[in-house]
Amino acid sequence: MLLVAPKVAYPTASALDKAALELERALGISKATRDANACAAYASDESEAIGRAPDILVIAASRDDVVKTLAIAESCGVPVTPRAGGTGRTGGAVPVAGGIVLATHALTQVKEIDRENLLAVVEPGVVTGQLHELVEKEGLFYPPDPNSLASCMIGGNLAENAGGPRAFKYGVTREYVLGVEACLMGGRVIRCGKRTVKGVTGYDVTALFVGSEGTLGVFTEATLRLVPKPRAIATVLALFDETRRAASAVSALIAAGMVPRCLEMMDHATLDAIRSQGVAIDPRARAMLLIEADGDPTAVDDSLQKIGDSLSSHEGLVDLVAAQDASQRARLWEARRMLSRATRKIAKYKLSEDVVVPRSRIVDLLERVDVIGQKENVQHLTYGHAGDGNLHVNFLWNDDEERARVDRAIEALMRATVDLGGTLSGEHGIGIAKIPYLHFEQSEALIDLQRDLKRVFDPKELLNPGKIFPARGHSAC
Ligand code: LAC
Ligand code: ZN
Repeated sequence: MLLVAPKVAYPTASALDKAALELERALGISKATRDANACAAYASDESEAIGRAPDILVIAASRDDVVKTLAIAESCGVPVTPRAGGTGRTGGAVPVAGGIVLATHALTQVKEIDRENLLAVVEPGVVTGQLHELVEKEGLFYPPDPNSLASCMIGGNLAENAGGPRAFKYGVTREYVLGVEACLMGGRVIRCGKRTVKGVTGYDVTALFVGSEGTLGVFTEATLRLVPKPRAIATVLALFDETRRAASAVSALIAAGMVPRCLEMMDHATLDAIRSQGVAIDPRARAMLLIEADGDPTAVDDSLQKIGDSLSSHEGLVDLVAAQDASQRARLWEARRMLSRATRKIAKYKLSEDVVVPRSRIVDLLERVDVIGQKENVQHLTYGHAGDGNLHVNFLWNDDEERARVDRAIEALMRATVDLGGTLSGEHGIGIAKIPYLHFEQSEALIDLQRDLKRVFDPKELLNPGKIFPARGHSAC
């Protein structure tokens, strides 16, 4: 079953008492508390994952606080769940063993923006959207743009290796992390990576930390690669009469060698969800593409022309609208940005997946999703980063009695994704939500190797327990 808390050991009452006392002494009661209301506020994230409220909440104000917390937690045998913005979609920051939640959202310093070397050094509590604004004022650009950029934080972005619409051209978070400082369970501080563009010394431990979903270490600093800010941006919205035709238009653009920075798609059910929120969309439209190009003004004009020509010659195009200025561009993005909220309004519950298939298989995936939805009689809508083959398939329901069908639909989606040569998660991680399906994609040997790696970093398995990997002996569902 989905989103059921994994089997993990809970800390004993005496271990918790000891840890709480030591933390209060080391950090002071303003930073370490057992107050039940304060702790309860840190029991969830933006997924449906259900955990166990922490017994102790630590709000770190410095690297030293993180170090002390991890040292005390290990010596007392108390699990720790790290957290930054808490906007995750798969339960990565949801504690499942109680214990300590170690929040890093108060570490908000941007320590350095280096224009000459194109990098920024930041703490984990920096809000991603604020980092965008800061570096753009300097003529620089930090490409990763998770949809939650107004509230998500760098620490969580690194932990989940977050993506976003601009990943089509620029890639995901990992490609912008030159180095990190991370604290391990027990309090050891590891600095790894580099400040140079090139560097191949030793294993790429930085890359291993990024995307490890808070199971290996707690970030206290990140050195991020920046690029020059693109001088021009152009956005185009294309409406199609059928989702499959929109999807094949995406394939045609890619096959023709076009590299816009975003290539987003929304299917007919998604457009209906947006319409139900009062946004007017041409009634003939059953699918939408949102395409954005950036670069030098002449190059952008050229790609806009080519994109327009390719789309216009494609079967099923209903309308093509180009934004003329920044405010029109923001309006074209409005529907895309409000999607998460819009879907929440049309049904009581939703589970939003982030499967990825080879781009040539998008149409196949959409067909499989329709078949699955019909078979299990579950309402669904699909949108997302079509350029990457990364689609957010959302299953929606209102009553608990529908839940078993939703779970079957999700399992079928995961099997179909792997069958099409894809992967379970493009940007949200495995967390708690996708543990039952990990073995569809990865062999037991690979899962075991990763568990072994985890024990090198955290021998007592106290850091973010119950995430990514099934408990031993529970790999098959
Ligand atoms: C998005 C988030 C959910 O793309 O990843 O909307
Ligand atoms: Zn996304």
